[in-house]
Amino acid sequence: MSNVHSDALVFFGATGDLAYKKIFPALQSMVKRGTLTVPVIGVAKAGWTLDQLIARAKDSLEKHGGLDSVAWPKLASLLRYVDGDYKDGATFQAVKTALGDAEHPAHYLAIPPVLFETVVEQLVKSGASKGARMIVEKPFGHDLPSARDLDRILLSAFPESSIFRIDHYLAKNSVHNMVSFRFANTFLEPMWNREHVESVQITMAENFGVQGRGAFYDETGAIRDVIQNHIFQVMCNLTMEPPPRHDAESLRDEKVKVLKAIPPIEAKNLVRGQFRGYLDEKGVAAGSKVETFAALKLEIDSWRWQGVPFYIRAGKNLPVNCLELLARFRRPPITEIAEPGTPQNYMRFRLSPEVTVAMGVSVTPDIEGGKRPLVEMVASRHPRPEEMEAYERVLSDAMAGDATLFARQDYVEEAWRIVDPVLKQETPVYEYEPHTWGPKEVDETEAIVPPGGWDKPKEEDAEDFRITNTGE
Ligand code: BG6
Repeated sequence: MSNVHSDALVFFGATGDLAYKKIFPALQSMVKRGTLTVPVIGVAKAGWTLDQLIARAKDSLEKHGGLDSVAWPKLASLLRYVDGDYKDGATFQAVKTALGDAEHPAHYLAIPPVLFETVVEQLVKSGASKGARMIVEKPFGHDLPSARDLDRILLSAFPESSIFRIDHYLAKNSVHNMVSFRFANTFLEPMWNREHVESVQITMAENFGVQGRGAFYDETGAIRDVIQNHIFQVMCNLTMEPPPRHDAESLRDEKVKVLKAIPPIEAKNLVRGQFRGYLDEKGVAAGSKVETFAALKLEIDSWRWQGVPFYIRAGKNLPVNCLELLARFRRPPITEIAEPGTPQNYMRFRLSPEVTVAMGVSVTPDIEGGKRPLVEMVASRHPRPEEMEAYERVLSDAMAGDATLFARQDYVEEAWRIVDPVLKQETPVYEYEPHTWGPKEVDETEAIVPPGGWDKPKEEDAEDFRITNTGE
């Protein structure tokens, strides 16, 4: 089954937000690239008809990237729709009928996790789970026990090799490319360890709030929403050992080893924040203590990284929108040439919205005896329009049976092991003003202030930077 291409895609939650923002655009791109030629069966309980689903898909595409005159009619002709309650066996009989001769459908659950068990049971009862793949969206559970429960439910109907857990950050070109960037360049790896790196910062900043997802977010919070999954995946790509082979399991083995070396986060190394105004969001509980911001420190207790602090920060309503990594290098020995006060070297990677590699380099002062300035050498560009979006990649890969860019269950459990204890301690949540770098307690809590201070990423315009092409 592993190499068989799925011969239908059934997606639950077809009338929802994720479908509207990400899935329809991904499906149109797949049709355009020729990777989607099979029926796509949307399922939801909305009282809709197929025409309404097609109208919704059209509207989604018009708002997210535009209608393609060739691909859109093809996609519209592939769309089917089943309306019904997920508790009702008749809904799944209708899915089975819509599947026709398909023998290896891919079922994609773009629905709240509380519905997973019901849908999986119904898929089994109707026979639609036979020979099928299962694609699920994060969050994979709410904590370690619920992640195990979810896994038990999925494994009751599908083998691990047929389960695809989406973390769309893994499928972002820039995130995935960190791995090849590290191992394809000779200059970085010899320095990429505790001997040379003093500290690492990872910032995922979003300059918007919860965007109408208050009810979901209030069950989740920043740590569960993006740190335990998206940021940990980025951190693993940044820190793992080179996989011995280029296959899904070799890569996933190396990632899980990184997490295994991380002790649970301690309360003293975490500051949680909530932006002012969050409590007025629709769906948010009165007096909610859910964090919309978190800053924390952790360590990877491995041969390569022991003693190097990793500072992680993520939040809504911060000053900029970006995903950025900053590794500060240790200072050179003090001599008459590198005198005290010589600025530290660093590497800065911006993975979104631009793709940037920048190096902080200490250069010759422009006046004799002057202070040694630090300049940044930058190579930066915007993602190209033809690059594959994360959702197109995950759906294409799952339907083709390639598990490389999906989270494995042992990884998911290790990630929960790291964050679970501190989440259960309900540490204080401090208010912060929207569009600032979180509560003042972040800078006042010595344990989580990186040496040299927190980086404050700025808006960049990649087109401003010059890349010198050597022509080689
Ligand atoms: C989702 C989170 O998984 O990722 C959102 O639930 C977050 O809260 C989003 O905004 C960020 O994804 P991207 O691809 O827009 O950076």
